Amino acid sequence: LDNGLALKPTMGWLHWERFMCNVDCYTDPNNCISENLYMQMADVMVTEGWKEAGYEYVCIDDCWPSHQRDAKGRLQADPKRFPRGIKKLADYVHSKGLKLGIYADLGTLTCGGFPGSLGYYDIDAQTFADWGVDLLKFDGCYMKWTLLGEGYTNMSIALNQTGRSILYSCEWPLYEWSYHQPDYAAIRKACNHWRNYADVYDSWDSVKTILDWTADHQDVIVPAAGPGGWNDPDMLVIGNFGLSHAQQESQMALWAIMAAPLLMSNDLRDICPRSKQLLQNTRIIAISQDPLGRQGYRTAKVDSFEVWERPLSGGRLALAVMNKQEMGGPRGFPLTLATLPSWKICHPQCNVTQVLPSYNELGVQTLLSKLVVVVNPSGTALLTVTPI
Ligand code: DGJ
Repeated sequence: LDNGLALKPTMGWLHWERFMCNVDCYTDPNNCISENLYMQMADVMVTEGWKEAGYEYVCIDDCWPSHQRDAKGRLQADPKRFPRGIKKLADYVHSKGLKLGIYADLGTLTCGGFPGSLGYYDIDAQTFADWGVDLLKFDGCYMKWTLLGEGYTNMSIALNQTGRSILYSCEWPLYEWSYHQPDYAAIRKACNHWRNYADVYDSWDSVKTILDWTADHQDVIVPAAGPGGWNDPDMLVIGNFGLSHAQQESQMALWAIMAAPLLMSNDLRDICPRSKQLLQNTRIIAISQDPLGRQGYRTAKVDSFEVWERPLSGGRLALAVMNKQEMGGPRGFPLTLATLPSWKICHPQCNVTQVLPSYNELGVQTLLSKLVVVVNPSGTALLTVTPI
């Protein structure tokens, strides 16, 4: 979407995977969907280096509103859980130098059963703008699939007409794929990013399935990505319970290769230092945010390894080698630059740097030099390749 936003993949935090639809503030006040949760995340984002690393949007997902619209037909936050309302929350988040995201649904109800926006697109867009919201995640539950295109496009127009810059996150292709191949040109025109595939959950199985789906559809979806519009493989679940450290490294590396939005869904108030260090790794973030803005893709599957590459600015390349053998120990992947589809950039030589699992300058390599990259089971080695 050409609204001047999302020129690089969006970075921030989104509540859904970790906190879901927890509305029970009576027995679980620290983890329920309430203004406190977002205020605390915003606080920590500033004090613990997240903002400095580039994470900017604090995003509300489903289950924030009251079940009733107000007398003027406007959505309102649940008064018990958001006693000061969303505008005050936005002011607070802005006072920290961060941005606030909110959630709505283009159908009659949200997936969680809260009021949907169908018939209220203009009112809701204006309400969000009046509150000072900076991002809208627009879900696609409870809507006839033939009307998805019209709905997502009309909300895009409604947001634009408010005059406020609001980043627009869609799920249009996800809900359309079950019926036919989505029109990515139309989606890119209307949205700043778009979910294609199932919700991520806290397990390696989930991350693997998302990567498989993405690679299997890369010819259709990769060309659609670029500054202003990105494929969204869903949230980072790094720092939770389900992924080993090697698997967390794989998610981080591959999300950077895919030029994916980096929306963490974890508890930043209580996160293991190693996960934090991974999420704040400036070299990986630089790959994610590379100004060329091209999405990477899978280039080879060999001997239970997968190789992915992403073209970077300055004629450079990011390279990910994932070890998909979930048995045994670390395995060596023989890497010869001449075998890469982009080998030409290394004629006659390239400088190779390993970013994951640890930083290591591998130095100048010719097209035919034989490198061995050691990769942990279900882990990923991430490298950059620079022509000289
Ligand atoms: C489905 C979406 O895909 C999820 O990311 C989340 O927003 C839920 N709906 C909320 O109900």
